Amino acid sequence: MTPFGIRKILKKLLGFDEGPKASSAPPRPKYSVTFVLPDGQEYQADAREGDSLVLASGRSEYPISTGCMDSSCGTCEVLVLEGQDNLTPVTSKETATKEANNIDANHRLGCQTAVLGEGVKVQIVNVLGADGDF
Ligand code: FES
Repeated sequence: MTPFGIRKILKKLLGFDEGPKASSAPPRPKYSVTFVLPDGQEYQADAREGDSLVLASGRSEYPISTGCMDSSCGTCEVLVLEGQDNLTPVTSKETATKEANNIDANHRLGCQTAVLGEGVKVQIVNVLGADGDF
């Protein structure tokens, strides 16, 4: 008997047997999100269910500009054009940050808004590194 076999038997006798390994979680569904740049150009990026708009846009050439990533600066502001029902709801912290930064109530914070389904289209207000290029 191998040393590993002995270890397994001892674990079972002492009640440390973990049983069958838990199966890994199924992969999250993937959705295509349309981003509109300030000059009207559009591009698509993939988002796994639960990914933030910032994360999804980061998979492209023109990501949403960010600052804090914790809903306090408002840099990641976006305007939702389509698919509002397939985004996570607005939180009280997001509302407070938008008020503190004079951001329209119908805009969202990309770092706090997660994708839940297909058909989301948002306009980016600030593009990372753009410096007025748009
Ligand atoms: S990056 Fe600061 S609020 Fe989203």
